[in-house]
Amino acid sequence: MNNFEFHNPVKICFGKGEIAKLPNLVPAKASILLVYGGGSIMKNGIYDQVKNALKGFNIHEFGGIEVNPHYETLMKAVELVKEHRLDYILAVGGGSVLDGAKFIAAAALWEGSDPWDILAKRYQMPVQKALPIGTVLTLPATGSEMNGNSVVTRWETHEKLAFGSPHVLPQFSILDPQVVFSLPPIHISNGIVDAFVHVIEQYLTYPVDSPIQDRFAESILLTLIEEGPKVLKNQTNYEAAANFMWAATMALNGLIGAGVPQDWATHMIGHELTAFHGIDHGQTLCIVLPGLMSLKRKNKEQKLLQFGERIWKITEGTTDEKIDATIARTVQFFESVGIKTKLSDYGVGREVIAKIVDRFASRGVKGIGERGDLTLDQIAEILESRLS
Ligand code: NZQ
Ligand code: ZN
Repeated sequence: MNNFEFHNPVKICFGKGEIAKLPNLVPAKASILLVYGGGSIMKNGIYDQVKNALKGFNIHEFGGIEVNPHYETLMKAVELVKEHRLDYILAVGGGSVLDGAKFIAAAALWEGSDPWDILAKRYQMPVQKALPIGTVLTLPATGSEMNGNSVVTRWETHEKLAFGSPHVLPQFSILDPQVVFSLPPIHISNGIVDAFVHVIEQYLTYPVDSPIQDRFAESILLTLIEEGPKVLKNQTNYEAAANFMWAATMALNGLIGAGVPQDWATHMIGHELTAFHGIDHGQTLCIVLPGLMSLKRKNKEQKLLQFGERIWKITEGTTDEKIDATIARTVQFFESVGIKTKLSDYGVGREVIAKIVDRFASRGVKGIGERGDLTLDQIAEILESRLS
């Protein structure tokens, strides 16, 4: 196992009715910016629950954060924070709203000349401070509620970039599984596959003798495989919703990734598909991953066989046959939860390949993945294999 530090201070309040605990979680003297998305919280009653819980608190509001939150929109929220000297960000929404809140919290205290550098120069100029954040999660998927990551899109240039900092870890996150009841089914599907691929990015690399991490990872995959379809069948099944929600949080809160190599190439390529074509985040992952698994079958051989055997019970055949069956079974799972896996399914053709490769080249990227050896040519090959 590799050396690691693991510190996750996010307080999780999980279960029915936990939103009522907000007044115990937000400091009484806070000047709050309540941020939310396109209005789903108005329709499903979550906004009312939050406002009722926080009666008497000093709250300003900022709605309209888009799916794949836009830098341009978030900067308007930063202006509001500065104008009213707000000192606490409360995010109520899915990953986009939570990620947006993290950017707002960091940008409000950013001392550099250009807040876009939080993303564009994330390694050279790491975030040093941010306003405190609390969250009420309304969509199990990203793990944003219990990690320090944020992904932001600059609309004018169609760039989608991430940053990560311990300063934007939420102080608390409220996870009431009842939020699942009002989700459009496509976002349940996206959430299942997003969480699934988060595990894969931290698991399907090469062995470092880490049985605890491997078995935690496998337990999350199996839970998603078992519980995801139950939620899709009946989204008011509270127990299934609760298990799905907790699995998605555990998939990306640092625990299973501690001390093991991590890939993230599927996410990096997927973000470009969203940036250029607006394909939902979860869908992009299901397009890219099967191609990556096949192309990197030698690098990932041992873990692919372990994944196939322990998750899909694939034990017969040659190594290549077992890997092919593992990939086919994974694609079948994605499709069974309602996510299509080819570029042509989304009306995207070959022209996207050169655009994505050029973009990585323009950023000076030579190789990605757990060994940094997935080249730009191989990225093209993966996308080529996913055309139709
Ligand atoms: O905007 P509103 O009106 O709230 O509607 C949203 C949105 O249309 C709706 N929704 C959310 N909760 C709902 C609901 N509708 C009804 N009932 C509810 N309870 O769902 C739609 C999608 O929401 P969004 O927040 O965009 O989805 P998701 O949670 O999948 O977040 C996606 C974003 O997170 C980033 C993605 O790149 C993407 O930008 N990611 C963040 C990560 C992180 N911070 O660690 C990791 C991930 O890999 C991912 O990259
Ligand atoms: Zn993801």
